[in-house]
Amino acid sequence: TKIAQALQAEIPADGALNLRVKGWARTVRSGKKVTFISLNDGSSFGSLQVVVPPEVDDYEAITHLTTGSALSVEGELIESPAKGQRVELKATKVEIVGKADPSYPLQKKRHGFEFLREQAHLRVRTNTFGAVFRVRSALAQSVHRFFGERGFYYIHTPIITASDTEGAGEMFRVTTLPVGDPPRDDEGAVDDKQDFFAKPTFLTVSGQLNGETFALGLSDIYTFGPTFRAENSNTSRHASEFWMIEPEMAWHDLDDDCQLAEDFVKAMLKTALEDCAEDLAFFDKRIDKGLIERLTKVAEADFARITYTEAVELLEKSGKSFEFPVEWGKNLQAEHERYITEEILGRPTFVVDYPKEIKAFYMRRNDDGKTVAAMDLLVPKIGELIGGSQREERLDVLESIFASDPHLSVEDYDWYLDTRRFGTAPHAGFGLGFERLVMYATGMENIRDVIPFPRTPRTCEF
Ligand code: 4AD
Ligand code: MG
Repeated sequence: TKIAQALQAEIPADGALNLRVKGWARTVRSGKKVTFISLNDGSSFGSLQVVVPPEVDDYEAITHLTTGSALSVEGELIESPAKGQRVELKATKVEIVGKADPSYPLQKKRHGFEFLREQAHLRVRTNTFGAVFRVRSALAQSVHRFFGERGFYYIHTPIITASDTEGAGEMFRVTTLPVGDPPRDDEGAVDDKQDFFAKPTFLTVSGQLNGETFALGLSDIYTFGPTFRAENSNTSRHASEFWMIEPEMAWHDLDDDCQLAEDFVKAMLKTALEDCAEDLAFFDKRIDKGLIERLTKVAEADFARITYTEAVELLEKSGKSFEFPVEWGKNLQAEHERYITEEILGRPTFVVDYPKEIKAFYMRRNDDGKTVAAMDLLVPKIGELIGGSQREERLDVLESIFASDPHLSVEDYDWYLDTRRFGTAPHAGFGLGFERLVMYATGMENIRDVIPFPRTPRTCEF
């Protein structure tokens, strides 16, 4: 029996419900007369109180058990006479499956998140991280449910790629060339032709370009997979490896894209609130006071929509002094983004129509000649949760963009341009950073604490 079920079980009128549970001891309190073990198997936030009387075989060994030990316990589930729990398990048999060495790093006291990051292989056995990873799992399953119900096809885009979708040059190189002494050509440059794929390849920063080609055939698709950024920003919101959800829809424009994003984020928050109520109650109490009330409100009310130009005006009018000055044509910094969504508008906010110079090549040019049909969704506490756009579907416009950008070569993107040559159609999509969503839904403040084994600059362990 899973401990979650045991904790919910109705005790029959004759008073006896025999069952067996397996889990890891969170605490062990031993006495001559009785030993109490708090047992958790990850199936619920709550642990099951196991009461071991001295008649049980090997009682002496049981009294010496320490936190972290793996146990299989048979017994009778009874109404608990103690306060704070409905039921407890009166043990008749305790099998010590795996003893924990007393050096087990997770002791009863509360450990700091920084310490627990060094124990990423064990931290899932704590209250906080058990809750984080249950919510993460529920959200991931809900992503597939959301898009599946709307008729989107799930597409697996490649992890190894030759294209830099975002054009930011933040790619990890994939190579089989010897590190110390790579083959060189006559000019002394590293000879990529001798590499595995006979050209430079990288870990993908986004599945979008491949996703677009599938949308122009299957109409509505989404990807959900790992993406990689060799971005040297050591913040609580950036990871070098993170998961991204990227829907792409043919026959839709930027407004439709924003609507899909809004529906999607609201559906995800409802999943967390409804399917993970016990875990959310914990986050609300211990991690982020008022979380449940805030998320409930966000899941009900409309998101705001403003243009980039309006955002710049609002920031200038606010009179607030920022570390980075606000200026039309420059990127909004995290401090600006958070100020807009937290202080000025007080709710999730779409900022649309950014200057073309600061956005990626594939975004559709607006008629004003200055901006593109881009959108970012900003949310309180996180900042940018989503980035998306309507795509430039006009071949002549895309060709002129390629002609004017020295980093883009028509040869490399010939396959992409084919979609514009052969039956092009309007389409739009976005990318949502899954870890940022988990942070938003749980109130956890560091991206390193919502992904099982975080990769960040100078950190790749486990
Ligand atoms: O804004 P980005 O770079 O957009 C794209 O990659 C597009 N190709 C998406 C699309 O239109 N299909 O990234 C999208 C989202 C961001 O809004 C952010 O939530 C997340 O991905 N993200 C990161 N999350 C964690 N760590 C990082 N280093 C991230 N970089 C982006
Ligand atoms: Mg972005």
